[in-house]
Amino acid sequence: MSQATGKGKERRTFLGVLLGGFSVALGAALGWPVFKFLAPRAGADEAQQVKIPRDQVAIGGAHFFNFQGRPAVILQPEAGNFVALSAVCTHLGCIVKWENDKGEFLCPCHGGQFSASGQVLGGPPPKPLDTYPVAVVDQDIMVG
Ligand code: FES
Repeated sequence: MSQATGKGKERRTFLGVLLGGFSVALGAALGWPVFKFLAPRAGADEAQQVKIPRDQVAIGGAHFFNFQGRPAVILQPEAGNFVALSAVCTHLGCIVKWENDKGEFLCPCHGGQFSASGQVLGGPPPKPLDTYPVAVVDQDIMVG
């Protein structure tokens, strides 16, 4: 009888350790996006403006770059018209991908969709992508 009780105790201990490990892993998985959001941005004191040669942004295409330490993207929906956006999804912070054939952004994490101007088209994102000011200076585009 005491042998059976000992095995039961071992089983409970094992399940307790297993449940504790699972809880730690789940907490880390859920806490990481919050930590990333709250942590100081790497390179936050980088230059406030980024210069991108105009010919790197094809008409209808997207050019990804870093802006103030975070992923960003610039588009040229029509000739001479440029739009700069944050490439960080407003849901949980994944980096969006440009779908050239659809002319929209897709977030690979939970299927969020954004238009070429950053507006939410579908999925869980609660708000549009952040936009950045753009100025065309000669053959360059100044973002920021
Ligand atoms: S992080 Fe982009 S849809 Fe969830």
